[in-house]
Amino acid sequence: MTVTRGLEGVVATTSSISSIIDDTLTYVGYNIDDLAVNASFEEVIYLLWHRKLPNKEELAQLTKQLADSADIPQAVIDHFKAMPINKVHPMGALRSAVSILGEFDDEAEAMDEEANYRKAIRIQAKIPTITTAFARIRKGLEPIAPRNDLSFAGNFLYMLTGEEPDSIAIEAFNKALVLHADHELNASTFTARVCVATLSDIYSGIVAAIGALKGPLHGGANERVMKMLAEIGDVTNVEPYIQQKMVNKEKIMGFGHRVYRFGDPRAKHLKEMSEKLTKLTGEPKWYDMSVAIEKTVTAEKDIPPNVDFYSASVYHSLGIDHDLFTPIFAVSRASGWLAHILEQYDNNRLIRPRAEYTGPGMQVYVPVDERM
Ligand code: CMC
Repeated sequence: MTVTRGLEGVVATTSSISSIIDDTLTYVGYNIDDLAVNASFEEVIYLLWHRKLPNKEELAQLTKQLADSADIPQAVIDHFKAMPINKVHPMGALRSAVSILGEFDDEAEAMDEEANYRKAIRIQAKIPTITTAFARIRKGLEPIAPRNDLSFAGNFLYMLTGEEPDSIAIEAFNKALVLHADHELNASTFTARVCVATLSDIYSGIVAAIGALKGPLHGGANERVMKMLAEIGDVTNVEPYIQQKMVNKEKIMGFGHRVYRFGDPRAKHLKEMSEKLTKLTGEPKWYDMSVAIEKTVTAEKDIPPNVDFYSASVYHSLGIDHDLFTPIFAVSRASGWLAHILEQYDNNRLIRPRAEYTGPGMQVYVPVDERM
């Protein structure tokens, strides 16, 4: 047996959804640099689920289906109101809420292709409503119902604040959604595929994926980046702060990647947005500190920033609570998870690797009364 720790370099499946080759990320062959500048998130969802960009009618149909499915069961709201909401991380709440969604979906256990596609639309549409409802209820505010005349990005920001967002905020948020939508066999997508490869249902796959995304080595990094920026506080503190982290052999959140050798192609788009938005909000210090951190970390360890690093100051500039950064990642990545789940069902084989045993050899059972 050859043990490959962390499955590094192991190719576990074929997929026609996204690819990372020579540090270039493509969705169905479209470079994300192109999509980030030109595409709406709705177009990207269609692309990931159908492996082609939609024409006008196809896009209008999907947009309507998403808008028509965005409401959530009262049971989710009641659950949020009953829980010790200020002690619960929004990713934990999202994980539970998606599970509740499954309980209210008449087709939850249906496994035919059409039913699974219909469920994919419902899940994609409802995750933003869940996230924003949670964010409002914990502040003592009532959730805001989704509107069907706003874009996916615009609607999220509207449901969060109750105000119609301006075009700059919508453009930035849409771009962030496009950039986070899919990423080949990342940890949460792999988790989703492992789950549904047992022929478990789609809700279970998404719940499993949310659990994996929550961790700080994956999607949870973006919230930690903001915590680090807040701790540093001023650009003059960057150098000693990072040096101390290095001495303590602590990881710097938002840096490094398993797959990219020279850098994450998504980071530059978020960096650009961070510069623009932090200037607009009159808080350029978040961008200035981020740039100083990048300089120090790359000089010391030659490790480039990943997608999570500049997304932190982008979301902060949009006025979003810091612990909602990872749920926002889930709002976007749900599109990729769902594409991969449907692909897994389409050509399924149980995913079941082996472990090299390192425990004791054969032992003889001793009854509890006779044990030392
Ligand atoms: N800060 C300091 N050193 C690092 C970092 C970092 N962020 N990332 C990697 N290294 C060092 C690590 O200490 C190790 O050094 P050495 O060989 O001297 O022990 C070497 O680089 C290899 O690191 P690794 O942890 O074995 O690499 P990995 O491929 O297992 O992990 C990673 C990849 C993303 C988990 C890791 O880079 C990391 O923990 N980064 C910080 C958390 C983070 O930003 N996660 C978001 C990932 S990208 C988007 C997403 O999926 O959400």
